Amino acid sequence: MLNLHLPDESATQSLGAALAATAPISGWLALHGDLGAGKTTLVRSFLRALGYAGRVVSPTYTLVETYDITGKTSGRRIAHYDLYRLNDPEELEWMGAREDFGGDTLCLVEWPERGAGVLPPPDLELHLLHEGDSRRAHMQAISTLGGVWLSDVKNMLKKNNISYSFD
Ligand SMILES: Nc1ncnc2c1ncn2[C@@H]1O[C@H](COP(=O)(O)OP(=O)(O)OP(=O)(O)O)[C@@H](O)[C@H]1O
Ligand SMILES: [Mg+2]
Repeated sequence: MLNLHLPDESATQSLGAALAATAPISGWLALHGDLGAGKTTLVRSFLRALGYAGRVVSPTYTLVETYDITGKTSGRRIAHYDLYRLNDPEELEWMGAREDFGGDTLCLVEWPERGAGVLPPPDLELHLLHEGDSRRAHMQAISTLGGVWLSDVKNMLKKNNISYSFD
């Protein structure tokens, strides 16, 4: 469990960058939080940190946007889901989600609770909460892979002396 105070948008972006720097090739991150909690902000900084320079649009109506990122030695694929407008979890089947969740894709999912019953358990769960004008983040590993990811994130935040506090 990791509990962080995110005083401003840049703190959310630093967390997104730390998650990207330590991210596994495949697996998925559940991004919980109310409207405007900072989920898309975090995904944008995640993609930027991986070197994606293009526009990152919120998949509000498309429900998913995918990004093929070409690295120096190999590429990787990120799928950004926003399930807020998903009517029925079964729709995920014909959206091709089965290939994303289980293939060589890393999925970042806003409103994952809308996909309950169809999505497999996540590797890592992140809850973003409003706290006055700032935010709080709670992170919890669900799988073994998520456990490694979370401990790498913690080390990275400590190493970079991120100014927000652990508590
Ligand atoms: N730590 C923070 N403190 C204060 N404001 C923040 C923080 N992180 C992000 N924000 C701001 O909060 C807003 C978050 O909007 P964003 O679209 O990322 O939310 P969201 O969680 O994706 O919402 P939705 O559920 O509607 O998709 C942005 O205006 C951003 O600048
Ligand atoms: Mg969003």
